[in-house]
Amino acid sequence: MGKGYVAILGATSTVGRALAAHYAREGFDILLAGRQEDEVHRVGQDLATRYRCSVRAVHLDSDSFDYPQALLASASGVAPLRGVVWALGTMHAAAAEADAALLRTSTWVNFGAAVAAVEGLLPHVAPSGFIVLLSSVAGERGRARNYIYGASKAALTTYGAGLNHRFAGHGPRVTVVQLGVVDSQMTWGMDAGMPGADPEEVAAGIARAVAKGRSRAHVPKRWGLIMFVLRLLPEAIFNRLRI
Ligand SMILES: NC(=O)c1ccc[n+]([C@@H]2O[C@H](COP(=O)([O-])OP(=O)(O)OC[C@H]3O[C@@H](n4cnc5c(N)ncnc54)[C@H](OP(=O)(O)O)[C@@H]3O)[C@@H](O)[C@H]2O)c1
Repeated sequence: MGKGYVAILGATSTVGRALAAHYAREGFDILLAGRQEDEVHRVGQDLATRYRCSVRAVHLDSDSFDYPQALLASASGVAPLRGVVWALGTMHAAAAEADAALLRTSTWVNFGAAVAAVEGLLPHVAPSGFIVLLSSVAGERGRARNYIYGASKAALTTYGAGLNHRFAGHGPRVTVVQLGVVDSQMTWGMDAGMPGADPEEVAAGIARAVAKGRSRAHVPKRWGLIMFVLRLLPEAIFNRLRI
């Protein structure tokens, strides 16, 4: 018998896929949810072939507020979930920040949709299970380049901290991951000022933080130090940096 299901919300995400592979390798079954049905099924077939795990692939329509319920209804037999990974995210160029439709999508996908998903799935997560929220170092100090995205991620980080406080000692463990730059679809072709980390190594780092029961973790670890310095920089110096 398997170890139960880990739900990967955002199955086509580069980091989400790497985490799905990690948990499948560890003996978990996988519930994959994404908006591109064909691609999600392809990811699922690949996991099932490689790791001989059970995979359920379901459509995720994050635009609808009750989508966690719809998601579970189309995936009967997967609860209680052993883990939930929130891997959706979208980052657009600073120049597009005046576009109302884009702003609505961005703030919803990066924050509101995550809250709707996690709150909806909570009753179906095993008390000894885990929840991973992929947040970002962008949420730690607002920067001209991506402050709308960063603000949504800061909200996600606070949400995760609150959830952890709520469940401390008697419910699923929540790990908020402050990701640094990762080589992924999201950062493809982007000049992030430094090379992106390898998604497989990032997935292993996230899984280690979850296994240790960390409530918050920088992945890769070096971002903890980078952000410590960046947070402390006086405004007069910070404002001169083009980062
Ligand atoms: N890569 C980085 O450097 C980095 C840094 C910090 C934090 N993060 C965070 O880490 C997580 C994973 O990112 P990643 O690097 O793996 O990025 P990615 O490969 O671009 O994956 C993003 C995921 O979000 C989904 N998505 C985007 N917009 C959506 C929308 N409007 N409706 C539904 N789904 C939508 C995508 O679905 P489709 O494939 O269907 O588009 C994809 O599954 C995200 O939360 C991201 O914000 C990434």
